[in-house]
Amino acid sequence: MNSSPFSCKPMAKIVVVVVVVTLLQFFISMEIVMSSPSSFFDRIIQLPGQPPVNFQQYSGYVTLDEKKQRALFYYFVEAEFNPASKPLVLWLNGGPGCSSLGVGAFSENGPFRPNGNVLLRNEYSWNKEANMLYLETPVGVGFSYTTETTSDDDDTASIGDKITARDNLVFLQRWFLKFPQYRQRDLFITGESYAGHYIPQLAELMIEFNKKEKLFNLKGIALGNPVLEFATDFNSRAEFIWSHGLISDSTFNLFTKACNYSRYVSEYYRGFVSPVCSRVMSQVTKETSKFVDKYDVTLDVCISSVLSQSKVISPHSPTKKIDVCLDDETTNYLNRKDVQFAFHARLVGVDKWTVCNNILDYELLDLEIPTISIVGSIVKAGIPVLVYSGDQDSVIPLTGSRTLVHGLAKELGLDVTAPYRVWFEGQQVGGWTQVYGDILSFATIRGASHEAPFSQPERSLVLFKSFLEGRPLPEVFA
Ligand SMILES: *[C@@H]1O[C@H](CO)[C@@H](O)[C@H](O)[C@H]1NC(C)=O
Repeated sequence: MNSSPFSCKPMAKIVVVVVVVTLLQFFISMEIVMSSPSSFFDRIIQLPGQPPVNFQQYSGYVTLDEKKQRALFYYFVEAEFNPASKPLVLWLNGGPGCSSLGVGAFSENGPFRPNGNVLLRNEYSWNKEANMLYLETPVGVGFSYTTETTSDDDDTASIGDKITARDNLVFLQRWFLKFPQYRQRDLFITGESYAGHYIPQLAELMIEFNKKEKLFNLKGIALGNPVLEFATDFNSRAEFIWSHGLISDSTFNLFTKACNYSRYVSEYYRGFVSPVCSRVMSQVTKETSKFVDKYDVTLDVCISSVLSQSKVISPHSPTKKIDVCLDDETTNYLNRKDVQFAFHARLVGVDKWTVCNNILDYELLDLEIPTISIVGSIVKAGIPVLVYSGDQDSVIPLTGSRTLVHGLAKELGLDVTAPYRVWFEGQQVGGWTQVYGDILSFATIRGASHEAPFSQPERSLVLFKSFLEGRPLPEVFA
């Protein structure tokens, strides 16, 4: 009774000390976590409606400037099996202005597809073969944002190829700070459509950067239905739609002789469409009909807005594609507050997440910059390049891409190392392929749209796997 309050409870003292020390250690470790750019807070616990999976997912922001006014949003899906032994693959969609999260991850080659309130597994997800990094770029696309205030409209128009390439490079540098275990990993860049500009331009900057400090272990790039040289790409459209029966002989004649598509687009972006081009285009539009999907001439319409990937490369505004699928699953899903919370995403400067940002003020004439020559310099640097085409796409048809690849091979003096032949997926022909100098390849994906992994997921995965492994596409049926 006369003892000091503590004397009979020596244990209590120890417990207090232990608790204090433990708390201190906890705060110190939190401090380390918070002050380092670790991926700790970017880990996705679970996406709403997601089935159980055995791979990790991360998403969040990487700021591009010290004032943190510009930030790019990413979604990173680790490989399903042995992520530590699999390469890192960056995926970019085009537009400009379309989201790699909404189009690439959720409609093409990601692990899930939104369906009502739930996510369904995609059996042919590219994370079977690689660690997939989806980037919403440039700033202003999807959850990526800029809060920089611009005094006049001229400044906002300054987002173009150059800034996008630079921002994408800075993004990757800083992303490696969050994920240092991926720094030395084999790196591939893949994407489609207007990413035919983004990817070569980014790869070129990486090669340049590596001369000072070897950071990017770039092992190859793959470009799907890419814009590489605007006139060749666009003028292959006339023959494609004519040979598929979408326009008459006489209209084909007008579309090649009186006003071709590159001339029309060029006039359109300069704000003056000549009477002759206007007449030809309205005839073409009338015959092709707005009820045919230009991104896959054999597909029925209403595959949701994912197929309206590009306003730039398909700018017929008089007959805007009608979005008959009002309840676009992806748009609904990504606009749910619980989904945005799970993704660590915020809406900054917009009230809604959209598949393609139609207000993005992109430097549209950058479309005319030829990137096929940059592809040439990448090949010359020893980096393998694959150009592949969903063969039902009339927006960037296979014929233009094939011509450009062939022309480049000739210019570089690359011999044909694998002559034009079919390749197989299972027991069926997956498409055709040709290889030059064992480094530059062209392949088609049979029956595929502009978004090849969307309409031919199985064949696309076979192509992707061969590309990563640097192996020829299957030559005989399995
Ligand atoms: C397209 O039209 C432009 C302008 O009239 C012309 O210079 C170009 O050669 C044409 N290209 C093709 C492939 O017909």
